[in-house]
Amino acid sequence: MDRIIFFDTTLRDGEQSPGASLTSSAKLTIARHLAKLNVDVIEAGFPVASEDDAYAVKLIGKEVKGPVICALARCVPKDIEIALKSLESAQKPRLHLFLATSEIHRKFKLVKAKSEIIRIAKEMVSFAKKFIDDIEFSPEDATRTEPDFLLEVCKTVVDEGARTLNIPDTVGYAVPEEYGALIKFLREKIPQEIVISVHCHNDLGLAVANSLAAVKNGARQVECTINGIGERAGNASLEEIAMNLIVRKKYYGVRVDLETKHIYRISKLVSSLTGIPVQPNKAIVGDNAFKHESGIHQDGVIKCRETYEIMHPKMVGIPESTLVLGKHSGRHALKLRLESLGVSVDENTLNKIFEQFKKLADKKKEVNDLDLLVLAEQETISAVEPTYTLEYFHIISGTSTLPSATVRIRKKNEIIEDASLGDGPIDALYKAIDRIVKISPKLQEYKISAVTGGKDAQGEVIVSLMIDGMRVAGKGVSTDIIEASARAYLNAINQYLSRKNLVKKKYRGT
Ligand code: KIV
Ligand code: ZN
Repeated sequence: MDRIIFFDTTLRDGEQSPGASLTSSAKLTIARHLAKLNVDVIEAGFPVASEDDAYAVKLIGKEVKGPVICALARCVPKDIEIALKSLESAQKPRLHLFLATSEIHRKFKLVKAKSEIIRIAKEMVSFAKKFIDDIEFSPEDATRTEPDFLLEVCKTVVDEGARTLNIPDTVGYAVPEEYGALIKFLREKIPQEIVISVHCHNDLGLAVANSLAAVKNGARQVECTINGIGERAGNASLEEIAMNLIVRKKYYGVRVDLETKHIYRISKLVSSLTGIPVQPNKAIVGDNAFKHESGIHQDGVIKCRETYEIMHPKMVGIPESTLVLGKHSGRHALKLRLESLGVSVDENTLNKIFEQFKKLADKKKEVNDLDLLVLAEQETISAVEPTYTLEYFHIISGTSTLPSATVRIRKKNEIIEDASLGDGPIDALYKAIDRIVKISPKLQEYKISAVTGGKDAQGEVIVSLMIDGMRVAGKGVSTDIIEASARAYLNAINQYLSRKNLVKKKYRGT
């Protein structure tokens, strides 16, 4: 009763973040990491929303063993059927049904009376129960619903077989004391074997505080996302809830079974794949979360770490920037170091990382843990088999010349070269690539940042492209920012091509 169930909805509510779009293979990569993190439930998507969503749920259900795999559905037979079909190969499937219950949603969105809401909820849970045992029910906008009506809906769906009752603060309106009291009210009236879950949005910046108040009052499942991404201002962040419950264990008195040492890596991964950066002062995973700037603080930390640190960065897998490897280090040393960072890879991937490591060591001399994580991430998350790879580029740029780029790209055994002028070096580079791949993407976003420290830091470029109405993100890392830009662009194009092929295959029924 004291164990907290972590329900991760990065791939569903998280993907509803403005600007985020994940390919099925990127979703699978994240799901695999979530399983390593030991989350209990992965909400893999909303299958009726698109072919892509349904396919991702199917893929994750087939490939990811361990956590419960959940699919979202409205209280509509077609939604339920599609969701159940997507869950067919999951070992532990869960159906998550939702129906709005608040007065404002009843009146303006659904145009339905209370009695109709009760009838629909009852019928749909009972219909779904014929096919699946594990059903979660969410009365959407619960925190703006009349408490007595909310209780009536909850009792109705429990009577029909729902096993988890999720009480969403859909619009982020709740405050901790009030939300805690609502959870207590429900907990006292709902049978103990039914898990009460919480799902908080961050419109007033209270999503984590509200989730914690709910735990204090009897909720035993928390719905959350990596980095707190999600609809509008986002959802409650998994890493913040987890570390609150762990660091203040005595206060909350609950157990967390997450492998928290994977938190930092998965935070980076989600940020790269969605193209949504993590703010530097973000609790737990922000770049500054464990940095001490003032002299007084630094002095204190040197004398006794706990003077200014309430948790050790290692707990969440933040590597200490110790020097580890140089250009003379061998494959075995690399493998051991990666393992100590929680990255286990097969021989083939190790060879690829080793190749990149050697190139980087030639440029940087000193390769630290953070560099290694970036390399490993590059190789392990390049979620798609690339159609195009960069062979060579040459840029001419300056204040008195029109920038030009020559680019050579490999497509299997074929080498293609082309050149273009542009408004700037990156523009010229991208135009030359467009000529080679014969696609004209619209560049929606271009972000550049240093991912490791020092003058020879590795630069990371994240681009977001719109191609034929499909939004894809791509990432490239290099000590040369023009090379990182080319890699990011090609990565996004490769994502697009792989997604297009998948959709084609699906239509062919394979
Ligand atoms: O915020 C919300 O109400 C939701 C439901 C589907 C649970 O995301
Ligand atoms: Zn939500």
